[in-house]
Amino acid sequence: MIITIDGPAGTGKSTCAIRLAEKINFIYFDTGALYRAICLFAINSKINIDCKDSLKKLVSRFKFQIKEINKVPHYFVNDIDVTNEIRSPQLTLQVSKFASLETVRNALKPIQYDFGKNCNSIFDGRDLGTAIFPEADIKFFLTASSYIRAERRHQELITKFPDKRVTFEQTLSDINQRDYQDSTRTCAPLKKAHDAIEIDTTTKTIEEVVGLMEKYYIEVITHKTKGK
Ligand code: CDP
Repeated sequence: MIITIDGPAGTGKSTCAIRLAEKINFIYFDTGALYRAICLFAINSKINIDCKDSLKKLVSRFKFQIKEINKVPHYFVNDIDVTNEIRSPQLTLQVSKFASLETVRNALKPIQYDFGKNCNSIFDGRDLGTAIFPEADIKFFLTASSYIRAERRHQELITKFPDKRVTFEQTLSDINQRDYQDSTRTCAPLKKAHDAIEIDTTTKTIEEVVGLMEKYYIEVITHKTKGK
């Protein structure tokens, strides 16, 4: 069974996906980490992303792995642990441009399909319910006001990167810029799948959102079992 959770930054996708996966015993895949990882790999490789050949070479050399260390997922690119580095505000600003490239999106598809094979999984990102798993069993689309999303992200950033002095205004502007880029790109833009359940998380706690998701999951499972 596959559950997808899409939506813009700061809506609580990852937190809710992790909690839901724990509750219903599914495996969780944060596809944002994959896009962040390949973007970091491109920056470190100093390639010209406008050159198709260089880009193709780059994606063919990209090896992505997830390993659990003390119950926390760690992300590796060609055997280097990039877990912290891929969350930095500087990198975040560059991911959307890179994620809009068709060569990149196509190269990352098999990694996502392989992960979803043979196991009950929850994927979160931007295009899971539309482009990657249009046949997913359950799709959620999370929204929230940009102000509250920026507030949540700002809290996260000052905790994780206290020395970077990120301001709320900068965080809000970055989020708006990224939303615009993600939803207006031609290749697999961020949008709600027609059959996705929309949850506005602006005034909801994580527990409330996860509760709604779990309730819906139980309804689907009950319906499937009855139909057998
Ligand atoms: O956690 P946050 O929502 O800030 O971002 P993320 O999920 O880590 O994704 C970072 C960026 O990767 C997004 O802004 C998108 O540009 C890109 N992305 C994408 O294009 N498709 C996905 N399935 C996941 C992420």
